[in-house]
Amino acid sequence: MNGNIGGPVSDLTLEVPKGLRRGKLRWNQQRSVASGVELLQLMATSLGHASLANVSVLDVGCGCKFTQAILDRGLPVGQYTGIDVYADMIEFLRAEVSDPRFAFHHINTHNAMYNPEGIPLSAETTLPVEQGSFDIVCGFSLFTHLAPHDYVSMLKVLRRYVKPTGHLFFSLFINEETPGGLGRVDRFKKAMQKADQARLDKYRSGFETTQREGIPDFLDAIPEQPLRVAMYSREYALKLVEGTGWRIDSVNDPLEHIQHYMICSPA
Ligand SMILES: C[S@@+](CC[C@H](N)C(=O)[O-])C[C@H]1O[C@@H](n2cnc3c(N)ncnc32)[C@H](O)[C@@H]1O
Repeated sequence: MNGNIGGPVSDLTLEVPKGLRRGKLRWNQQRSVASGVELLQLMATSLGHASLANVSVLDVGCGCKFTQAILDRGLPVGQYTGIDVYADMIEFLRAEVSDPRFAFHHINTHNAMYNPEGIPLSAETTLPVEQGSFDIVCGFSLFTHLAPHDYVSMLKVLRRYVKPTGHLFFSLFINEETPGGLGRVDRFKKAMQKADQARLDKYRSGFETTQREGIPDFLDAIPEQPLRVAMYSREYALKLVEGTGWRIDSVNDPLEHIQHYMICSPA
């Protein structure tokens, strides 16, 4: 299982070519795997599982991080199903991962950043997996790139695939400062203090709007890169969950490897 095409060898059980990796840590597979391990553990313990053994996970916008982490560190998982709009990466994972606990599926839904030619997402969009069959449905750094209409549609779509006793776990950008200082807004404020021009330039227009007009419901924070940073007011992020079939269990502050994250149960 060594797909080391076009990138330095890092001695991982599953090497993923650089061009097929997405997300903040795509340049460093070892760090990406380490963060994957932490996030999988966070998800398991937050949802009351000692580990993911005997747990079925549906990961939408899966990328390859969790697959690499589970395989490389021998983490227990009952069943892991990854879905993504990135066809080449899904094809790669299908070809390289023969472990029967894993399944991967491509969907062609539109995303301004990741799949601009795709078919618009709607509440009726179906996923190629069995309804009501997953203990955990998750989206890591997925809602961080969704516009409000897709945020709502995605919640409604995901709702159909969770078991009645299951949970939803997803990360998002909330437009607020946090006590731990690890959120996107905290980092922007630190960049202001350090006069970090590159970072300031990237976010300037969005944050100037916020300073002038107050926190908007939704802010596409780097307008020249649509949906790179899809940022929500806390109030709006919570309001959008209403009527999607989910009940919010908790909204949590950012940690080192994750922005704000929400945990929900079937309503
Ligand atoms: C920032 S990456 C995160 C990948 C992985 N979850 C992680 O944490 O490393 C976002 C992923 O979501 C996928 N994606 C974006 N919009 C999607 C959609 N509407 N449905 C499924 N996947 C989507 C992208 O192709 C990309 O792989």
